[in-house]
Amino acid sequence: MKINMKVNKPSPECISAEISEIDVSLVNKEQVKTIKQLVYEHKLVVFRNQSINVEEYIEFARKIGEPQVYPQDNYHHPDYPEIFVSSNVPKDGKKFGVKGTGRYWHTDCAFLQEPLPFTMLYPQVLPNSIRETYYIDMQKVYKNLPANLKNYIDGKYLRHEGKMRYKVQEWDIDRALIDIMNEIEKRFPAVFHPSVITHPVTNKEILYMSEGFTTGIVDTDYETSQKALQELFEFIELEEHIHTHVWKNGDILLWDNRTLNHMASTVAKGEKSVSYRIGIYDELPFYVSPKNVEQQSTAVQKPQVKNQNSKLLTLAK
Ligand SMILES: [Fe+2]
Repeated sequence: MKINMKVNKPSPECISAEISEIDVSLVNKEQVKTIKQLVYEHKLVVFRNQSINVEEYIEFARKIGEPQVYPQDNYHHPDYPEIFVSSNVPKDGKKFGVKGTGRYWHTDCAFLQEPLPFTMLYPQVLPNSIRETYYIDMQKVYKNLPANLKNYIDGKYLRHEGKMRYKVQEWDIDRALIDIMNEIEKRFPAVFHPSVITHPVTNKEILYMSEGFTTGIVDTDYETSQKALQELFEFIELEEHIHTHVWKNGDILLWDNRTLNHMASTVAKGEKSVSYRIGIYDELPFYVSPKNVEQQSTAVQKPQVKNQNSKLLTLAK
């Protein structure tokens, strides 16, 4: 029984702390506190050499916070709704989860009023060749953001929506695209978050946007907004900003979506890949009100967010 843990911290300005010599199914309260602090401080935590079953995995997530049940149930594990399944392998002869998830820059659930604070990922089957997940530290990006790019977004709200990432399902056959899109929009209307959020624990300022889900800048005309977003994404996704995690058997990753954009690598043709994700609410607001925009928080002031929505709907036209 291993109840101690060894922590390797990254060098300054880098992300990803590594925890070894621990069995995550046995962590105690004190260790959970340390783990959460490491996530806030280093954004990404890697647990090595884990071998736990699904119940133990969910139990570990529960010690960290409240597991999310993802709003689209076709992603759920049939026996454990907290498990979001990314898989290209059928289970018991049936489709299991969704394949090819997250292969674009994003933060999980940015398109919701209350985005997902933590994501934990535990691959069950790794492809034979290689599987990687890429990360960008958006706190660091904001610190280094050139003034001309900062001017586009400072003090502004950004629009986020997930509709273009919707994966067409079996039951969508024979439906018109416009009907599918209208239904998604109704279920997941666009949301607005400050372009620069302040972390509730570290108080650091973070650029909160991603190519996957950010679709507009509030109070900015359409052409300027699209041009600005393109320039911003080009800067954000520079190779020098990208941290690569190469997966090994037994890895579990836990990261803070407030500060990290991420993207999954593609799986080589014919290879199998199965991952179990658990989203976790850490009982803190996703962000606290930034200094340079009017007082507003996703968690507590929804009516004001609604006002922002109505003000900005012209942007979409
Ligand atoms: Fe993701």
